[in-house]
Amino acid sequence: EIASCLVGSEMCIRDSTMPVITTIDDLKRLHERRVPRMFYDYAESGSWTEQTFRENTTDFEQIRLRQRVAVDMSGRSTKTQMIGQDVAMPVALAPVGLTGMQHADGEIKAARAAEAFGVPFTLSTMSINSIEDVAEATTKPFWFQLYTMRDEDYVARLIQRAKDAKCSALVITLDLQILGQRHKDLKNGLSAPPKLTAKTLANLATKWSWGIGMMGAKRRSFGNIVGHVHGVDDTANLGAWTAEQFDPTLDWGKIAKLKEQWGGKVILKGILDADDARMALKVGADAIIVSNHGGRQLDGAISSIRALPSILEAVGDQIEVHLDSGIRSGQDVLKAMAMGAKGTYIGRAFIYGLGAMGQAGVTSALEVIHKELDLSMALCGETSVAGLGKHNLLIPKGFEGDWQP
Ligand code: GLV
Repeated sequence: EIASCLVGSEMCIRDSTMPVITTIDDLKRLHERRVPRMFYDYAESGSWTEQTFRENTTDFEQIRLRQRVAVDMSGRSTKTQMIGQDVAMPVALAPVGLTGMQHADGEIKAARAAEAFGVPFTLSTMSINSIEDVAEATTKPFWFQLYTMRDEDYVARLIQRAKDAKCSALVITLDLQILGQRHKDLKNGLSAPPKLTAKTLANLATKWSWGIGMMGAKRRSFGNIVGHVHGVDDTANLGAWTAEQFDPTLDWGKIAKLKEQWGGKVILKGILDADDARMALKVGADAIIVSNHGGRQLDGAISSIRALPSILEAVGDQIEVHLDSGIRSGQDVLKAMAMGAKGTYIGRAFIYGLGAMGQAGVTSALEVIHKELDLSMALCGETSVAGLGKHNLLIPKGFEGDWQP
């Protein structure tokens, strides 16, 4: 393969030796091959038994699409808006911790790919590239995801940094005040940068292109934190660090204060229950994300797509409802939108692309999903995102689950 691709250069010349990418799974296979095991596993894990992680995708498979024929499918468009911002399709890049460990300067590359494609990029608090790095490398506003820490001054400074960078939305994550246990991360000794144990070194020896890229990377540890949190210069052990620093006292009162501090658009991420959706509405959020954190937090929780209908019923006419967790294709996007969501997010799907081929891989992930969405909309007899609705779906009886109250 072309060396420039392997070292993660922006230019990815396609020739006959380049893999032909037609699905997100193609990118996942390359990701697994090219990225050190601990970071592949970090992305690919759910918590504990991974039941929720699995059901996030298998529940999407239960819903079928209604094929319609003899409908004029010319002039189709996947364009719409999320929180009043134009998007080329209703798919934002979700905040993903350690993105810059999947590929050198990963957050910068993903943000650039999203900007060129016309979809929002969300930078995680736990990113490798900092807010300022991404702002410098892009020309349009991105979204910033906030984890609240015990150190309130630090949180205030972080919010100010996101304001200075002209971020156009604050995404506050509510489902990770403490970290769910992902067995592989503990067994692999997940850290950023990786600690060079014999096992890790043996694995890194097979990932030389990743290593060459990393040698030239702008950063190799948490860019929003190291040097910004008083007394913290080693965040390498993610689990221990979050246990120490994340604010376990975050509640609705504090969320209302954060919203006031920010003063702009606020999206609340991690809502899986209609009662919490009502609380989000009460604090005046602009949107909520129905999410179980990609099955990485409460194992045994319901899948996002199954939780969506009851949340839409509770607040769907008063607040924008988005969804993440389980989206791996344009057909999944179509199903969530037809069910009533106003936007979706991909996490793993773009991370596979990033690990596989850097910026070109993220673009490829977006292209795959866009093509799947566009063609499937057409085959459902729809020409616009606004036209999608329950009439496009065959939802099995009892899909939401007949649970005891
Ligand atoms: C952080 O957001 C994680 O899921 O690891």
